[in-house]
Amino acid sequence: MDKFLIQGGKPLKGRIEVSGAKNSALPCLAATLLTPETVTLHNVPYVKDLITQRRLLEDLGATVLTPELRTHKITAKNIETFEASYDLVKTMRASVLALGPLLSRFGKAKVSLPGGCAIGTRPIDLHLRAFEQLGAEVSLESGDVVATAPKGRLKGAEIDFGKVTVTGTENVIMAAVLAAGKTMIRNAAKEPEIEDLAGLLVKMGAKIAGAGTDTIEIDGVEELGGAEHSIIPDRIETGTFIVAAAITDGELEIAKCEPRHIEAVIDQLSRAGVDIETIDKSTLRVRRRASGLKALDVTTEPHPLFPTDMQAQYMTLMTQAAGRSTVTETIFENRFMHASELIRMGADITITGNQAVVNGPKKLTGARVNASDLRASASLVLAGLCAEGETIIDRVYHIDRGYESIVRKFRAVGADIERRSEQLDGEDGFEV
Ligand code: EPU
Repeated sequence: MDKFLIQGGKPLKGRIEVSGAKNSALPCLAATLLTPETVTLHNVPYVKDLITQRRLLEDLGATVLTPELRTHKITAKNIETFEASYDLVKTMRASVLALGPLLSRFGKAKVSLPGGCAIGTRPIDLHLRAFEQLGAEVSLESGDVVATAPKGRLKGAEIDFGKVTVTGTENVIMAAVLAAGKTMIRNAAKEPEIEDLAGLLVKMGAKIAGAGTDTIEIDGVEELGGAEHSIIPDRIETGTFIVAAAITDGELEIAKCEPRHIEAVIDQLSRAGVDIETIDKSTLRVRRRASGLKALDVTTEPHPLFPTDMQAQYMTLMTQAAGRSTVTETIFENRFMHASELIRMGADITITGNQAVVNGPKKLTGARVNASDLRASASLVLAGLCAEGETIIDRVYHIDRGYESIVRKFRAVGADIERRSEQLDGEDGFEV
């Protein structure tokens, strides 16, 4: 198992590039199952979850060519099975995104029911209920979700999500694009990743209106064709880099990003004392204001409000801000695993229910810490970058799931961070 070694206290300075969005590339790869023709996706991040998603497509019988590292040409012409195995689903919950497209195109799908994970129980009941509303028969057999369209084709329906769900909305969009008739999705998720997926599907011939709002209307078509599409920049990686510049008292030019997708994060961090300047439509310049960081409360909410995927990184920043701040998590019930590790590094954090109270600023000192999930790992890297002395982060496979070459990117802007592999000392493991 690889670990990161960080010598903290070096201000990050220079230009850093944002990769493609993991949470957009995952549904876009799944969407290629909707057509026998070739779909070409560019700007797919080279991260573990995308390698898993590619394996899922190949296991189903799709052909995936990668003429370049971040370009995938996917042809789902000869799909041989309609099943995503437990082995895949247990390593990556987003495998459930195969359900919608398989059910839509072939009228049948079988995917292991994902269990809980490090951040919560994460049921998929809302996805399944919506499939039933589209006419599918859904049952649970030996831990697998088995869904079939009795007449071979789903039927458009009115779907009102009781709770906003990102992958639920994506799964239902993909199920509805080939259904007979019209589907209305109300209380849909409005994340930029939904718009990106809809953008790809429209290029493939789907009829979708309203993606990015809470009401999405889909007119089912008979078939979809090939398309070429570039994945949007990763807004959570962008936010993580903004915090990295601020927490190390450095100055970063963050390139290839999409500031429109993180307005709530930019607003929150600006009010907390971070100077974020828009250089052009895809570049930000970030530094901490001379007046220093100020404690500021935050609550996570669905887009366009402050994202849960930035909560851990924000909490780390607040350990360095003057005053008392609260961090309230409303999306997942167990997303504070990073707090106990930050406390071991010297942070003053108290957790009560879904709220953390952070008192700052507190000097962080390097320690040996454990990464528990993707965003928690990112928050520990940020803590290590500003701590005094050496931080060792174990179980960094979590970060490999969603941050492309984080060691290489941070080293290039002056961080003292290295990856140690237990088998091959000094080897750069998963980085490209
Ligand atoms: N929920 C249900 N029933 C459902 C679906 C969701 O109760 O059928 C609940 C969840 O348990 C949670 C809330 O609804 O409490 C919202 O969950 P959502 O379905 O929106 O989350 P998700 O689609 O499973 C995606 C991202 C997550 C991100 C969340 C929230 C992908 C592949 N994953 O998950 O990303 O945190 O939306 O924005 O898009 C990450 O990248 O680190 C990550 C966890």
